[in-house]
Amino acid sequence: MADHILVERPAGYPGVQIIRFNCPDKKNAITRAMYTAMTSALQAADADPDIGATVFLGTEGCFSAGNDLGDFLAVAMGGGMPREVIEFLYALVRAAKPLVSGVDGLAIGIGTTMHLHCDLTIASARSHFRTPFVDLALVPEAASSLIAPRIMGAQRAFALLAAGEAFSGAEARAAGLVWKVVDPGQVEEETLGLAARLAAKPPEALRLSRDLIRGDREEIIARIDEEARHFSARLQSREARAAFEAFMRR
Ligand code: COA
Repeated sequence: MADHILVERPAGYPGVQIIRFNCPDKKNAITRAMYTAMTSALQAADADPDIGATVFLGTEGCFSAGNDLGDFLAVAMGGGMPREVIEFLYALVRAAKPLVSGVDGLAIGIGTTMHLHCDLTIASARSHFRTPFVDLALVPEAASSLIAPRIMGAQRAFALLAAGEAFSGAEARAAGLVWKVVDPGQVEEETLGLAARLAAKPPEALRLSRDLIRGDREEIIARIDEEARHFSARLQSREARAAFEAFMRR
């Protein structure tokens, strides 16, 4: 999995750490090892006074196709939701410093829901946010069942999380999942510039403001756990296994 997650400190953007999906051949699908690398980078950012903000980026035309379905199929044979996924979600929720994401193109499953934990998301109009949880015989994850209805209302949250409807960049912005829509070629620059501006602000005032805005972390963690219990049971169901095998056989 060498370098499928790149952790970078970009020149010209002081105080910014990038966590970049770098497996375009697999549409940046996220394996357990990639989750672990991202969790470590988030924890390292919180411990490093030189880092003021973390940015999530993908590759051109693809943020991420979500969980690696091969990994999930392996887990479905024996266990529950991979521990590595849960630990990454906890790290996202507990991150003490701002999280900014930049999306160009595909953003599927957790490639969509992780932005609910980001403070600001920039996307291109051609972005395609979609969560086919129910089609895979699964349930929503990442506390999306709690946060999405709050920010976008019940109908849009249902369309996204249960009906599996795709949202364009503009629709995601109208729903409150995205802050700003820019040209595909500007996604990285805008995202990094935004993160650098946040990293330059008084850190304690920013931390307190962020905590107040994001609300009760324990409520979010509790929902992650509740969803994970259902998700784990669903992963081992006959219908989920059939859906995964159908994808792998294509
Ligand atoms: N897990 C594992 N591999 C994946 C993947 C995933 N989530 N998404 C894409 N890939 C792999 C494909 O198997 C393919 O590999 P191959 O070249 O070895 O055959 C490669 O990435 C390219 O994908 P492909 O499907 O050919 O690209 P596409 O442009 O036609 O379609 C998607 C892209 C994202 C629409 C399609 O790949 C897809 O539906 N992926 C599954 C998304 C998903 O359900 N995610 C989990 C949500 S919980």
